[in-house]
Amino acid sequence: MSDNCVCLADFEEQCEKILDKNAWDYYRSGADSEITLRRNRTSFSKYFLRPRMLQGVGMVSLKTTLLGHTVASPVGMAPVGYQALAHPDGELATARVNRKRNGCMILSTMSNHCLEDVMQENQSCESLPNETSPGEVRTAPLLWFQLYVCKEPSFTEQLLERAYYSGYKAVVVTIDTPMIGKRRDDIRNSFKLPRHLRIANLDSLDFSKLGLDKNVVNAHKVPSDGGSSLELVSSKILNEDLTWDDIAWLKAASKLPIILKGVLTAEDAKLAVKSGASAIIVSNHGGRQLNYAPATIEVLSEIVSAVNGEIEVYLDGGIREGTDVIKALALGAKAVFVGRPIVWGLSCEGEKGLSKVFKILDAELKLSLALCGVKDVNELNMSHIANIGCDC
Ligand code: FNR
Repeated sequence: MSDNCVCLADFEEQCEKILDKNAWDYYRSGADSEITLRRNRTSFSKYFLRPRMLQGVGMVSLKTTLLGHTVASPVGMAPVGYQALAHPDGELATARVNRKRNGCMILSTMSNHCLEDVMQENQSCESLPNETSPGEVRTAPLLWFQLYVCKEPSFTEQLLERAYYSGYKAVVVTIDTPMIGKRRDDIRNSFKLPRHLRIANLDSLDFSKLGLDKNVVNAHKVPSDGGSSLELVSSKILNEDLTWDDIAWLKAASKLPIILKGVLTAEDAKLAVKSGASAIIVSNHGGRQLNYAPATIEVLSEIVSAVNGEIEVYLDGGIREGTDVIKALALGAKAVFVGRPIVWGLSCEGEKGLSKVFKILDAELKLSLALCGVKDVNELNMSHIANIGCDC
């Protein structure tokens, strides 16, 4: 299935053929008329590269550090909910791929496999030879937990505790989702999770405290007046009143570093630094929340300047090829994360397809770095961006 795929777009095409409409539309869609979804992708073509020649690029290194942990690639896995819709192994297969490539994976609160099982998978499968020369730092797989802050503080506290004791290394708090964006296809399809799947991390939480039945919590029900289960779950569970003051509470409640996901302005980037966050992810949720939010690559520079090196800045949204990664890193991101390509890969024979997705991305990144005359991914900077973009 994945044997003929040579780029991520090939996986997308395969995935559409394999998945049913309910699942495909859930993964593909963006908010409203999907301007931001499209812009995330098209805006990359505004930036061109300034390659340097004769730099001796026989050995190119992708190794980098994220909050002090050394990983083998600056391309990580964004949190994507309900991965078992793409393949029964879902997040377990994703963790196995992460383990084997010594990368960084962010597990969603809304995963179909629970955070403890995913951590075990991230640690237990065989590791690939991790070649280092004397004195060189070894790479290791990194797993972070993405948190949706719940209406009920004790639920949030329990999730934070579980993530810490299971061995997660950071908590990624998603701040762009006080309520769920309007995704038209999910409403048309009355999207809900099939009965055999569940939102596993929420299983052990006592939702009867909030008067909620398990079928709502597990996204098996849609609103009585029509629509998708996502609206119903989010309106019952997500804390719509979250403010910057709550980040201080979260920081105190968490034994792990906090990363804020969903920053799109210099103002919020500065508040993030002030709040004590260890890093931010420039993200518009893959165009699924506010339509007409800017493309992430277009606001990256403004945010990097505002942060002024005080914390790490990462980016997601529309990363589909090696040169996209180069552009984001040259504009100041320390790493990037990919979302939808995870489920495209999973839909093609699970771990096998997903592994190939990341092999392709890493290989494209290495090749394009070499052609840019860059031997070490950490050397990318503004001098590699040409000022000749076309408008998209
Ligand atoms: C997401 N995203 C997301 N983000 C998050 O913080 N928690 C989540 O549970 C999810 N779930 C989710 C499901 C699906 C189907 C998609 C497509 C996205 C957003 C995700 O982490 C990331 O921000 C975007 O997917 C990045 O954009 P690309 O790579 O999909 O273009």
